[in-house]
Amino acid sequence: MSTQAPDIPLTDEATGIVAIGIDIGGTGIKGAPVDLRTGELTAPRHYIATPQPATPAAVAAAVKEMRDYFSEVPADAPIGVAIPAVVRNGITRTAANIDQSWIGTNADQLFRDALGMPATLLNDADAAGLAEMRLGAGRDRKGVVLVVTLGTGIGSALFTDGHLVWNTELGHLTIEGFDCCPWASAAARVKENLSWAQWVSRLQEYLAYAESLLWPDLVIIGGGISHDADQFLPLLQVEAQVVPAQMGNDSGLIGAAFEAYAAARA
Ligand code: BGC
Repeated sequence: MSTQAPDIPLTDEATGIVAIGIDIGGTGIKGAPVDLRTGELTAPRHYIATPQPATPAAVAAAVKEMRDYFSEVPADAPIGVAIPAVVRNGITRTAANIDQSWIGTNADQLFRDALGMPATLLNDADAAGLAEMRLGAGRDRKGVVLVVTLGTGIGSALFTDGHLVWNTELGHLTIEGFDCCPWASAAARVKENLSWAQWVSRLQEYLAYAESLLWPDLVIIGGGISHDADQFLPLLQVEAQVVPAQMGNDSGLIGAAFEAYAAARA
């Protein structure tokens, strides 16, 4: 993330403008060119297996490979990269499901060197949240909106009147000294073979705690599990309205593309 970018004008001005969005995950790296007005992918998504170990150098090389794959996209198209890490002033400060050597890495410089141009780097949940607020379940929503992504871990993106509070890491709230992230994630349900009811009681506890701290007006549940919303949304009892995300698995890369465009304009 290179800026605290202003709102992206989704006006005719952005019509036909494309940025490349790339979403780095623990097992795969997804990328696609994104139409900045509609959020649609202008070419099929490309997938590269995340190098193991996912060191900064290895991931930067994969990101370069991704950029080169979309050779038909103009060379000056902004590039946004979503990563499972806190990113402050271009430095990655944490590392989840990627090599620990990311912590303290000057990622801005790393990608600039690898790509021969700057890239805009941001937390993956923040990127997914930006996409949801722009075009998905949070569109035109004011007040406090909490986007929670449930996958291998729990990511969060917090918005007040549409403005993102970067790097909130609310997935790591602790209850009785235990990190909620591995406990209430979507992966925990599968790994521990939990029934929906068992898993929902964890999610309920997590969301109730988050609600007691933040009092959101709207909670958007993202991650692959949002497709199974029927299984768990009716069981949740929180005051906030809770809805599934609408942008699907591409929300991270779409949000990264939006942010890259906003940063390039700033
Ligand atoms: C990380 C977050 C990330 C989330 C989803 C968490 O473990 O701490 O930075 O957004 O996983 O990948």
